[in-house]
Amino acid sequence: MNSIPTHTLNDGTTIPAVGLGTWPLDDTQAEQAVRGALERGYRLVDTATNYRNEAGVGRGVAGGAVPREEIVVTTKLPGRHHGYEETLASFEESRARLGLDHVDLYLIHWPLPRVDKYVDSWKAMIRLREEGLVRSIGVSNFTPEHIERLEKETGVLPAVNQIELHPFFPQDELRAYNADKGIVTESWSPLGQGPALLKDPAVVSVAEELGVTPGQILLRWHVQLGALPIPKSADPERQSQNLDVFGFELNPAQMDTIARLPRRRLGGDPETHEEF
Ligand SMILES: NC(=O)c1ccc[n+]([C@@H]2O[C@H](COP(=O)([O-])OP(=O)(O)OC[C@H]3O[C@@H](n4cnc5c(N)ncnc54)[C@H](OP(=O)(O)O)[C@@H]3O)[C@@H](O)[C@H]2O)c1
Repeated sequence: MNSIPTHTLNDGTTIPAVGLGTWPLDDTQAEQAVRGALERGYRLVDTATNYRNEAGVGRGVAGGAVPREEIVVTTKLPGRHHGYEETLASFEESRARLGLDHVDLYLIHWPLPRVDKYVDSWKAMIRLREEGLVRSIGVSNFTPEHIERLEKETGVLPAVNQIELHPFFPQDELRAYNADKGIVTESWSPLGQGPALLKDPAVVSVAEELGVTPGQILLRWHVQLGALPIPKSADPERQSQNLDVFGFELNPAQMDTIARLPRRRLGGDPETHEEF
């Protein structure tokens, strides 16, 4: 069943090339969405402490027929728990809510440069990895400047940088930086959160040319950029569509059509966004 291609991370582990987002599902919805997604072939699930659905995600992982070792469970450290000891404690709370003996990918959700504790959190995450409680460690919404600091002060680079990425906000420079450092770029809001991008005439026309859906065009665009999209869907049909993006290809002209869409950021600027 599991035929999704994988990326090899800079710590030697592998991760599926498409995952399932779970925000803003509640525990009950997340349990159902995750269980169904695993049945449909997903093997990567994305949650966060701040989504308040880790318990539901954990139940979805535990409740299905897919062996735990095949599933990459991601969660994230919230801003209010930055700091060395705080990160260790926050991780234990996440692990308990998820009901897992280890987490596969643990990310710092936002850098919060004004608070200036993300390096301390990173040191705690290195320890969690050394203790085998976390398989891979990474960041989210980090700029090159933040990553340079992690590398300079700890010598350890993130395996993943999960960033806002969709055709309205293609992040060419940050993607190139991540690639240069051997960091896999994960795309959050890969469908631009919905209708504006999915109904864009350029996206719809490329979908018609290839006989697939607009959502599949967008996700294939991520795959061809080398990025790893984590679309959220709680709908069985759309979940299946979103995984079925490895049997067709956008040609250079079609990639160019998508590249010419207008620019618009949906989320916060990592230099100033504060989410606790
Ligand atoms: N690290 C961060 O700071 C950060 C920030 C935001 C999000 N995230 C993560 O990234 C994940 C994805 O981002 P997102 O949820 O913001 O946006 P998204 O995945 O771009 O879009 C989700 C929306 O698109 C719909 N949809 C999904 N597949 C579709 C398809 N094939 N055709 C038409 N509509 C479709 C979904 O509705 P249905 O459920 O009804 O299909 C939902 O309304 C989140 O769930 C979360 O895990 C991380």
